[in-house]
Amino acid sequence: MGIDVVLLGYGAIGQAVHRMLGAHDGEVRVLGVLDRASLADPDPAALTARTTGPTGPAGPGSGPRVPVLDLATAIERADLVIECASPAAVRAHGPAITSAGTDLLVASLGALADGRLRAVLEAGPGRCHYSTGAIGGLDLIRASAGTINAIELRTRKLPAALLHPGLPGALRSAITRTAESGTAAPVFSGSVADAIRDFPSNINVAAALGLAAGDLDLVAVDIIADPAAAMTRHEITVRGEGGNYRFGIENFPDPANPATSALTARSMVSGVLRLAGCGPHFI
Ligand SMILES: NC(=O)c1ccc[n+]([C@@H]2O[C@H](COP(=O)([O-])OP(=O)(O)OC[C@H]3O[C@@H](n4cnc5c(N)ncnc54)[C@H](O)[C@@H]3O)[C@@H](O)[C@H]2O)c1
Repeated sequence: MGIDVVLLGYGAIGQAVHRMLGAHDGEVRVLGVLDRASLADPDPAALTARTTGPTGPAGPGSGPRVPVLDLATAIERADLVIECASPAAVRAHGPAITSAGTDLLVASLGALADGRLRAVLEAGPGRCHYSTGAIGGLDLIRASAGTINAIELRTRKLPAALLHPGLPGALRSAITRTAESGTAAPVFSGSVADAIRDFPSNINVAAALGLAAGDLDLVAVDIIADPAAAMTRHEITVRGEGGNYRFGIENFPDPANPATSALTARSMVSGVLRLAGCGPHFI
């Protein structure tokens, strides 16, 4: 009984998921981790007996260690690969995982704004599951797909949670100015595709809403950089033929990565437990 899983990515989310799944080792066994090194050099001999462990304030060796695997071994042994790495990792490794018949749980939903990649992953035979990540209400939006007229997402985050190395210069200047001024300011307004282009790892919530609604173009995204934002806030407004819905979600950032909400790892664990058959489930 139970399922065998592998973590693709072992940063803030991966380590938190590993720690939390430790309480469920009868139902979910964490076989190992795929990291950048094991994906770059897939020679199993080079990986023999290599393990990794938590980083961060408590320091290396402060929690359970886990074997580092190569991709072929992970695909062969795991029932489910839990992606908590980046959109680039979904693009690079997702197709090999699902086409081999292994299931994939995706956190980096921004990658799935690419319809061709989505089609490849959904062709299976492994199943591609989308994590609810940092928000809720996706069950309602999914149930309303085809009847929704518009979705607005207004996200307020710390400037530091929006900065990343690939940010276009004008956006970087606007976000940096906001941080220096100490005053909140809108820094982005556009479609899901634009948001994913400019913030590939920071606004997965926008992709989640569009994927749930069945049409990414229904979602309008506004991002506010707020130097005083102790919490990341998502205000979501849905207008449709069946009704109008509003969700306000305030998440504490993950101490290990201010760009990530602490809820995301919990959502992934909840999803994995559901896939392992551990209820109760709301469906
Ligand atoms: N769905 C959501 O609501 C939501 C919320 C937060 C984060 N996310 C996604 O989860 C991802 C991970 O978040 P995190 O806070 O743990 O980030 P993190 O930076 O703390 O850790 C990411 C880990 O993945 C590894 N990694 C990144 N790209 C890789 C690649 N191409 N191949 C192999 N390993 C790779 C990194 O080395 C690192 O160990 C984010 O990039 C984001 O796309 C989704």
